[in-house]
Amino acid sequence: MPAVRFLRFLPLLILTLSFPTLCSPQSDADILVKFKQSVTHGNFSSWIPGPGVSPCRKKWVGVRCRGEDIVGLHLSDLHLSGTLDVHVLLQLRYLRSISLMRNSLTGPIPEFNKLGALKSLYLSHNQLRGEIPSEYFAPMRSLKKVWLNDNKFTGHIPESVMQLPRLSELHLEGNHFSGSIPPLKFPTVLTSLNLSLNHLEGRIPESLAKFGVGSFQGNEGLCGKPMANSCIKEAPPPVASTPSPSGRAKSNYNGRPMLVATTVFFLLCIVIAFLFSAIRRTKKDDGSGGKSREPVRDKMLPVQLPPESIHRRSVEKNRRSKSGSRRDSKSSVTKGGMADMVILNGEKGEFGMQDLMKASAEVLENGVLGFAYKATMVNGLTVVVKRLRGMNRLGKDEFAAEMRRFAALKHRNVLAPLAYHFRKEEKLIVSEYMPNGSLSYVLHGTRDVAHANLNWPTRFKIIKGIVRGLGCIHTEFGTCEVPHGNLKSSNVLLTENYEPLLSDYAYQTMANSKNVAQALFAYKSPEYLQYQQLSPKSDVYCLGIVILEIMTGKCPSQYQSNGQGRINIVQWVQTSISENRAQELIDPEIANNASSTDKMLKVLEIGAACVESNPDKRLHLNEVVTRIEEVS
Ligand SMILES: *[C@@H]1O[C@H](CO)[C@@H](O)[C@H](O)[C@H]1NC(C)=O
Ligand SMILES: *[C@@H]1O[C@H](CO)[C@@H](O)[C@H](O)[C@H]1NC(C)=O
Repeated sequence: MPAVRFLRFLPLLILTLSFPTLCSPQSDADILVKFKQSVTHGNFSSWIPGPGVSPCRKKWVGVRCRGEDIVGLHLSDLHLSGTLDVHVLLQLRYLRSISLMRNSLTGPIPEFNKLGALKSLYLSHNQLRGEIPSEYFAPMRSLKKVWLNDNKFTGHIPESVMQLPRLSELHLEGNHFSGSIPPLKFPTVLTSLNLSLNHLEGRIPESLAKFGVGSFQGNEGLCGKPMANSCIKEAPPPVASTPSPSGRAKSNYNGRPMLVATTVFFLLCIVIAFLFSAIRRTKKDDGSGGKSREPVRDKMLPVQLPPESIHRRSVEKNRRSKSGSRRDSKSSVTKGGMADMVILNGEKGEFGMQDLMKASAEVLENGVLGFAYKATMVNGLTVVVKRLRGMNRLGKDEFAAEMRRFAALKHRNVLAPLAYHFRKEEKLIVSEYMPNGSLSYVLHGTRDVAHANLNWPTRFKIIKGIVRGLGCIHTEFGTCEVPHGNLKSSNVLLTENYEPLLSDYAYQTMANSKNVAQALFAYKSPEYLQYQQLSPKSDVYCLGIVILEIMTGKCPSQYQSNGQGRINIVQWVQTSISENRAQELIDPEIANNASSTDKMLKVLEIGAACVESNPDKRLHLNEVVTRIEEVS
């Protein structure tokens, strides 16, 4: 069996081994001249190659540079025709923008999708024709501006273009596109759209209705907002009909929205279930009149969440007002006792259960260890409430001691709780809400703006902060088997200034043993998976994953049990470094910061040394701290 496996990889091995000799490094001038030779009738009079010629310094026509790096090829109005050699451009590592407007290009769309890091593609006013494959744009995850207008393209609008996470400008007007308009996956990012003068038909997706009539005119068959004609009994709305009436290749499109839909449905179910149990409880209470119940019993917070709370709707008042006065008096009696909130840090203001109940709430997450939601109180303080699940290892006093220990962690990179609530069957931890959300959200989420702020200095600041915060946790919880235990990008919160704050640490001692292995990320370290062993170095492994995630911008497969659709970041990094291709690992978003490349490579190296699968060979956290501080 192993032999067979090896054979399967053999071709790959030969390819990688022989790669360096096959392709000796070419100068940028050589590359451009090769490209020039692939087109005919171009006026490239300034492109004169020679030994040591730098197209950037010589200011070759149409070559856009940042320093010595070629970042754009803008070759408009040059009467270009012929078959472009896109492949040769792959060697221009920093190329982000291509413009070939108003030339005489013919034939099908060239393979620009090989240039996965492109941010803009302008091909307007040529004679390009034929269908664009549905998946054409799928590899171009950084693409923001797509101008294909005034060509002769036919067939459907490729679905993949509508799914680009950063798509801000899409111009397809003046072609022969037909069929319905696929739905737009990231509608908030798109600012400029023109689909006029095609043969499109069917309902305009709701996500595009905000664009004016001017973006759709000259398509006889379109209907619905913003067009004047509404869609009368048009059988399948576009959302349902998108996966290809004409048998176009099935895309990965189905995966994500389904997931989102399932998640939303799942969340709704939970909330509704809570609501039902709440109503049942309220009825019981009303029926049994003065029966002495624990006063907080019917104040369980999630009970207060109506299904609409997902849309930030305030909690209804009338349910509370029924018996509000009775509770008010009781809670003031018990205030400060275990039945109410125990304030650990009053700097942000004090609050009790009543204030939390009056807060407007929004569900944030539902994980193995609990249910988190955001609550904005009447006094303006916004907090995150974690309702812990399966955390029954500690009794009341031990839990209180643990909470006080958390609160005493006064480190700028560690999130300390503001308050907690403890009963045998209900444990809440309240902490400050961070407006920028988690690192995971900012790195992989859909918020273009937030992501745009993640330049190299910010990323380095985040890495330094995480390392320092982890250092603090390792000092305070040094006696624990694994002091943090759950370090991953979704547990790193970001302040307004992108200062990182570690959260969800030191849960190992509190969580039921049944849950920990499933819930805590340290249990995904190689030593646990192989030998069921943990140590403080398991945290270092998790730290390494986060560092590599920040540097590459990729979402690691390690975070998911099935690892589907993600990158095994450890393997990728180790292979690339061993083949001297570390530079290719750097997220294209920051790679153009050439003056910092050395620092980036050093940080990548540190990250790689943290994910070493043998803990003995892995860096000690103290070494990581020293080495990261040395980089700056
Ligand atoms: C080519 O471009 C140069 C300047 O860029 C111009 O002087 C020359 O007339 C152009 N030649 C043709 C054939 O367009
Ligand atoms: C879209 O393109 C058409 C044709 O070029 C033009 O007339 C129209 O003004 C454009 N609309 C927008 C919103 O850019």
